[in-house]
Amino acid sequence: MEIIINKNYLEMSKCAAQKIGELVKNKPDCVLGLATGGTPIGTYRELIKLYNQGLDFSNVKTFNLDEYLGIGKDLSKSYEMDQSYARFMHEELFKHTNIKEENVHVPDGLTKNPEEFCQWYEDAIKKSGGIDLQLLGIGGDGHWAFNEPGSSLSSRTRVEKLTEQTLDDNYEAFYKNAGISRDDIPHYAITMGIGTILEAKSLIMLANGQKKAEIVAKALAGNITTDVTASAIQLFNRDSYVILDKEAASRLSKV
Ligand code: F6R
Repeated sequence: MEIIINKNYLEMSKCAAQKIGELVKNKPDCVLGLATGGTPIGTYRELIKLYNQGLDFSNVKTFNLDEYLGIGKDLSKSYEMDQSYARFMHEELFKHTNIKEENVHVPDGLTKNPEEFCQWYEDAIKKSGGIDLQLLGIGGDGHWAFNEPGSSLSSRTRVEKLTEQTLDDNYEAFYKNAGISRDDIPHYAITMGIGTILEAKSLIMLANGQKKAEIVAKALAGNITTDVTASAIQLFNRDSYVILDKEAASRLSKV
């Protein structure tokens, strides 16, 4: 595991985009695992810049980590009112590049049969040759994707109930400003499992800001535990990069 500490969010984002860009350049048909949330937005902006400078995404395939159950991309709604992760990816990255729609995979939050869908998603990742590079954030409770505390470190793609902390975080970040009540936000999600994530060929975990400092320290230097599912990064024995800003790294030496 290589920990790269940058002076601020912009530098963190540039560093991550550069690594992803190198992979896309060296392996134009690579498979990227992608994340949503506030953290990777800067990385996606930097990737869009690389696209505008000639980086070609036409053969890249993507698989997103997760999606809320019960919602899906709805372009008839304003972006503010469509909180699906499929819409997020469309607005923050895909529509600004030449990535092909048929190469993009976000779990289907509107599926009638979530169990069957989750198996299909696992199979689709395998059929694509597996994920070359998985981009990850880390939740306030230490989750990776929506693998909330208590999730098995060998879990696969499945439906997961979101914790109160995650509901609070999501409400603050995405729903409050849109005037959506906390009771009406999705309480379940489809998520790749920790076992699924650990099969990627390489990982990048991003975190920024003081509020992530303690959980980053626990994940990287604390016990490997289902209480902090991101601690599974310590089990990953291929290339992994933890790309942080100074604040998110500030508790690392104190654990
Ligand atoms: C999103 C995801 C989540 C986020 C995490 C951090 O696809 O998998 O685990 O990475 O909740 O979210 P932010 O970046 O908003 O702090």
